[in-house]
Amino acid sequence: MSECTFIIIGATGDLTRRKLLPAIYRLITHKKLEKFIIVGAALEATTIGQILDSAKEFIEGDIDPVIWQKIVDNSYYQSLNVTVPADFVLLDKVVEGLEKKHGMTGNRLVYLAVSASFFCEVTLQLAASGVVKKLATNEPMWHRIVYEKPFGRDAQSAHEINECIAASLYEHQAYRIDHYLTKELVSNIALIRFTNCVFEPLWNNRYIDSVQIILSETVGVGKRGGYYDAYGALRDVVQNHMLELLAIIAMEAPEKLTGDFIRNERVKALQKVRVVDAIAGQYEGYTQEEWVPKDSTTETFAALFLMIDNPRWAGVPFYLKTGKFLDKKETVIHIKFKQVDCLLTKYCPSESNYLTIRLAPDESFILTLNAKKPGTSQELMPMSMQYCHSCIFGAEKFSGYETLIEEIMRGEQSVSVRCDEIEAAWRVIDTAKQKEVPLSSYTPGSSGPEAAELFAKKHGMRWR
Ligand code: BG6
Repeated sequence: MSECTFIIIGATGDLTRRKLLPAIYRLITHKKLEKFIIVGAALEATTIGQILDSAKEFIEGDIDPVIWQKIVDNSYYQSLNVTVPADFVLLDKVVEGLEKKHGMTGNRLVYLAVSASFFCEVTLQLAASGVVKKLATNEPMWHRIVYEKPFGRDAQSAHEINECIAASLYEHQAYRIDHYLTKELVSNIALIRFTNCVFEPLWNNRYIDSVQIILSETVGVGKRGGYYDAYGALRDVVQNHMLELLAIIAMEAPEKLTGDFIRNERVKALQKVRVVDAIAGQYEGYTQEEWVPKDSTTETFAALFLMIDNPRWAGVPFYLKTGKFLDKKETVIHIKFKQVDCLLTKYCPSESNYLTIRLAPDESFILTLNAKKPGTSQELMPMSMQYCHSCIFGAEKFSGYETLIEEIMRGEQSVSVRCDEIEAAWRVIDTAKQKEVPLSSYTPGSSGPEAAELFAKKHGMRWR
C-alpha cells in the first residue's frame, strides 16, 4: 500500500497551493496514495485550513468532497523558523505524534519549498533533529528530501549544498528534481531511442549533422520578477531543463533504463560539454516589471553553441535557444541528419532528414523524410511521419508533480538529478557566464534579438 508522511517546509508558498496539494489530491483520486498525512511548516502564523483552501482553485474539475475531507482530516500546520534548531526538534516530535495517531509506518517525504540559500542549513537541521534519518535502502521505511530548482546558483554553491547532503544523508535519499524529467515525452526519448533498431546505429557524428534544443515562451516574467532577476534564463531553464534534454539525447546506452544507470550516462555526457559561443538578450520593458531593478542586466533570452567532446559527438554542434516573451510557446528538439550523396540529376542536394521531438505543444515525434513529388519525375518534397502522442493520449494536462511525487515515493531516481550531474550542468553555465556576452534587447512577441540571427549566420546554421 502506498503510504507517506508529507512534510512541506515552506508550506505557505505558491508551490504548495499550485502544485503540491493538487498533485497529492490527484494521487489520492487515482488511488496511487492510500494512507497519508501532510504536515505543512513555515514561518507565517496561519492555519492548515487556510493553506488547503488556497489550493482549491488549482485543482482541476469538481472537488470530490469525500477525498477533500480526507485531506482536511489528515493535514496539519506547524510553525517553523528554518534558522532555529529547536523548531526542527519540535517538528520531529509533532510528526512522530501524528504518525502514531494515524498508524503510519514512517515513510517520510520532506519537500523543501524554500529558497536554495536555505537548502544546506535546512538539510543539516532536518538530519540533526531526526525529521530525516540517515536510512540505508534495506531499512523497512524510507526518508527522502526533495529539493526544488534552482539548486544553487553556480557550481560552487551547488557543491556546498551537496556537501551538506553528503554529511547527513545517503545520496539515494536526496531528490534534486527537475519537472522536465517527468514529462511523458521526455521519458519517452530514451525508450524510443533504445528500443528501436532504426535510431541507435545513426545516433552519432557519422549521421547526425547538428541538434537544436529550443524552449521558447510567450509569457514574460509576470509576478516572478524578484526570483527571475536573480537567476536569468541560463540559470532558470538552461542549467536544468535544457541541459537535461541534451544529456538524454547525448548519453551512451545505459545498462538498464532505470535510476542510476541512466544518471551514470547523463553525467558523463554533461561532463564533456564545451561552450563554444553564447549570446544573451533582454526583452524591452523587462526593467519595468515588478521587482526588477531598473538597471537590471539579467538575460531573458539566451542561445548557446555547445560541443560534446567525446567520440560519439565530436564535431556535432548542439544549439540551445530559450527566451521569455517570444513569438511562440514551444519546447522542441530538432535532430538534423547529414545529407546523403545526391543521385538525382537535378534538385540536388536533397533536404536533410529531421527527427523532431516536440515536447510542447502537440507532443509528438516527427520524422521528416524526402519523397517524390507526385506527377514529377525526380522532384522531391518533404514528407513527415508522425507519432502524435497528444492526438492519441491527449495533451499532458497536469504539471509533472503527480508523476514526480509518485516516482519519489517509489524510490525511482531517474527523476532526480545526481550530485555530480547537477555540478556538471552548473559548470556549463558558469563557463557560458564567463563569456560576458553583450546583452541585446528584443521586442516582446518577436523571435528574439537580432543577435540570434547573426549568431546563426556566424555558425552557418538556421534556427528551425
Ligand atoms: C520553470 C521556470 O522551471 O520552467 C519557468 O522557472 C519556465 O521560468 C518553466 O517558464 C517552463 O516549464 P514548462 O513545463 O512550462 O515548459
